[in-house]
Amino acid sequence: MPHAVRPRLPRLLLLGVCLLATPAFAERVVETTVEPNTLVPAGVMRYAPSVFPDRVIATPAEDAARGFGVSWRTVASVDAPVLEIVVAGDSPDMGERRRVASTAIALDGENGAARFHHARVDGLEPDTLYAWRVQGGGTWSPWMHTRTAAAAAAPLTLLYFGDTQNKNASLSTRVLREAQRHAPDAKLALFAGDLVSGGEGEDDNEWGEWFDAVGPLATMVVNAPAPGNHEYREEFEDTPQERRVLGDHWTRTFALPANGADGAEATSYWFDYQGVRVVVLDGTSALDLGTAEAQAAWLDRTLASNPHRWSIALVHQPMYSPRQDRENRLLREHVLPVLERRRVDLVLQGHDHVYGRRGGEDARRATPQYLVSVVGAKQYRLGERARQDMDPTAEDTQLFQVIRIDGDTLRYESRTATGRLYDAFELRGARPGQRRLREITEGRIAPRDCTRAATLKGRADRCWE
Ligand SMILES: [Fe+2]
Repeated sequence: MPHAVRPRLPRLLLLGVCLLATPAFAERVVETTVEPNTLVPAGVMRYAPSVFPDRVIATPAEDAARGFGVSWRTVASVDAPVLEIVVAGDSPDMGERRRVASTAIALDGENGAARFHHARVDGLEPDTLYAWRVQGGGTWSPWMHTRTAAAAAAPLTLLYFGDTQNKNASLSTRVLREAQRHAPDAKLALFAGDLVSGGEGEDDNEWGEWFDAVGPLATMVVNAPAPGNHEYREEFEDTPQERRVLGDHWTRTFALPANGADGAEATSYWFDYQGVRVVVLDGTSALDLGTAEAQAAWLDRTLASNPHRWSIALVHQPMYSPRQDRENRLLREHVLPVLERRRVDLVLQGHDHVYGRRGGEDARRATPQYLVSVVGAKQYRLGERARQDMDPTAEDTQLFQVIRIDGDTLRYESRTATGRLYDAFELRGARPGQRRLREITEGRIAPRDCTRAATLKGRADRCWE
């Protein structure tokens, strides 16, 4: 074979040079066109549920050192499947495994009648790699590996993702894979909401694509999502009775801790992961469903009882909106003062489809640091105020974040879709309120702004569809 290939190479190179040199090559460049929201053409069934478990995802238990939740999907006829778990071993014979029962919730979507199953695994040992699998209809999933959280002092790497939302299979996939390349040691992933767009008639395809984009991360780490406004749908739209209702997928897709705020029980929760208390708020419920005060009071209690050194709040809608003409007043009024008073370290947010970072109300204090980021294809434009109040900012950039916590030091890095460093800083200090901020500018790429006058559809208020 090598003898046949070698003499051909120069000719191929010559052909390449000729193509580059002639105008004919330029004509081969395919023009960018508006891309549909999913890769599933109309009339094609891509994500039908079956007897094989799919959409398998691990989520944190309140005490992530002792357990985790698992959700998976099958066709509706699969009844009471179990989860099997054992301490992972090097032999395929991993010994006696424990069976955990599941509870089920049905879902009828455009892809057919499905059933989602939740198993809550408890009584585990900290910092232990477990092998587990879930049952379908006469079938099993592959064995998955998930490590429980270690003791509070152990170093932790976690990932933070802004909105994935649109074109998830097409354009979020690459960002999530790049994140895994940069942080193969991550144990926890935080998603700041708007995981999908909730498209008319293809909601389930969007969720199928979200799982394709997340890939092996769904079980290699535990995943903590915040709900975005797109996880809600409008009921009685354009009538006086119009209201937001939580979409059907949320409670089915994630087996989350049931410890949330009054009135937002299904969509707010907290958990402890290896020295960090993570509090997940429902910004949509706070803004549109009257739970801002209740969530603020719950946040205050949850942070007051935090025995750990670090705290992170995850909420979809930003306290300080980097997008023009957006103002989340009720969050500012009720939630922001708690974040400030309790000196939460990081407030991780999404919603505005740009990047921006700023400190809190008191410029002398290092915490909280307020972040807004975006994974997905939809890109908005920065407002004028954000350009003054936030640094750095970015438009027209897909991003992921890696956060490393080791003892008294938290290191934050925001990286672009190609892995280039965009923003970095360190927080140092033993206690909340005593942190010092160190900017890390070395290795950062230049600030990015939108260079397009309008999107392909002609929208001048956005940078990309
Ligand atoms: Fe949003």
